[in-house]
Amino acid sequence: MTTDPLPTFPAGFLFGAATASYQIEGAATADGRGPSIWDTYSHTPGLVLGGHNGDVACDHYHRYHEDVALLRDLGVDTYRFSVAWPRIQPTGSGTANPKGLDFYDRLVDALLAAGIEPVPTLYHWDLPQALEDAGGWRSRDTAERFAEYTTIVAEGLGDRVRRWITLNEPFCSAFIGYAVGRHAPGAREGTPALAAAHHLLLAHGLATRRLRAAGASEVGITLNLDRLLAASDSPADRAAADRAETLHNRVWLEPLFNGAYPANEDEVWGPLADGSFRREGDLDIIGAPLDFLGVNFYRPIMVADAPHNEPDPALRTAVDVRAPEQPIEGPRRTTMDWPVVPDAFTDLLVDLDRRYPGLPPILITENGSAEPDEVAADGKVHDTDRVAYLRDHLSALSAAIKAGVDVRGYFVWSLLDNFEWAYGYERRFGIVRVDYDTLERLPKDSYHWYRELIAAHRREATG
Ligand code: FCB
Repeated sequence: MTTDPLPTFPAGFLFGAATASYQIEGAATADGRGPSIWDTYSHTPGLVLGGHNGDVACDHYHRYHEDVALLRDLGVDTYRFSVAWPRIQPTGSGTANPKGLDFYDRLVDALLAAGIEPVPTLYHWDLPQALEDAGGWRSRDTAERFAEYTTIVAEGLGDRVRRWITLNEPFCSAFIGYAVGRHAPGAREGTPALAAAHHLLLAHGLATRRLRAAGASEVGITLNLDRLLAASDSPADRAAADRAETLHNRVWLEPLFNGAYPANEDEVWGPLADGSFRREGDLDIIGAPLDFLGVNFYRPIMVADAPHNEPDPALRTAVDVRAPEQPIEGPRRTTMDWPVVPDAFTDLLVDLDRRYPGLPPILITENGSAEPDEVAADGKVHDTDRVAYLRDHLSALSAAIKAGVDVRGYFVWSLLDNFEWAYGYERRFGIVRVDYDTLERLPKDSYHWYRELIAAHRREATG
């Protein structure tokens, strides 16, 4: 294992681990859970690598005690998980399913008993299929349904949960789900994806109100903010990077923190631009003050003003902003084929801080790497590349904090190997290995490294 010095963090900095419901829970039909768009997507032949689905996943639904014990031994302060909407409301509306709520009730109690703060995310992509059938995020009504669901969960868990995350990565829900089609529901549409983006933001704003009304002390949203690099200094490539900046980052940051959609959005959306689904007053709801901003970071993205293959002109703009991603030559790549560039993490955070001085404190709600793990002859997983990835990204984070960025915590993605969406079980992000035949958990070297980092931080704080 590495002997390099461990990065250091301010006293009170929170260390955590993250997961998401569909990726780990399994028990797809247990206790009245209804189908979600990810059940439908993963059961559609040809969409997920290996034909995998989340029916069993890590069976966390039945093994959560074991997983909480792993978290306790890891020594984390906090655990980010997500609540599966279709367990709470199997068809996305109406009264709560008590058995579904009961699972999270027991999970929260187990976490608290282990001295770990529970941080639920209300939406990590598993929309009830019945709501998709009624229009999904294209429809404004879904935002209203989300607010209702939020109240049910907040009333059920709010006596013990103080920190809440509304949405995970609305970029992926709206654009990968409704334009690129590589996430559920697998739609390839143009303008409706923009409506989805707006309705997700509205859902966040309405849920924030509901959480406050239920007495939540801290509310935030998680965005996958991207570090966008222009492939060259040419004005055309720089303009492409700027358009991508609007699509990836500004479309969320500006309404959330500046009360308006980005100034150059019409130029970015081109023929798809259509604001008819936006109503007066929406921006006030969306822009309600937040207590923290969750940031997920994995890699930088390089874009160029390159031609693309999308034949459908209606789709071209939405797809185009994603398609011109260029390979970044030089750095090592993870099994996601993502380049490992830790400096980009520092740059992203410092730049964010400079551009949005009024931002609330930041929590890094995901960061990690998929690696080709193997169980070695000694029965262990020596995931040296993941250890290096985590060490270098935590060092990059420490550098950003030293440069003045107010980051209060870090959640590693992920506690467990799990269902990596369209990649099924073929990509492993866990610091704990899951054997998908036996469902046995095996902490990897990265788990032990992270445990030592947390312990060293505690010694420093108390010493
Ligand atoms: C993020 C998702 C998370 C996981 C990681 C690798 O986009 O939020 O569920 O799949 O990527």
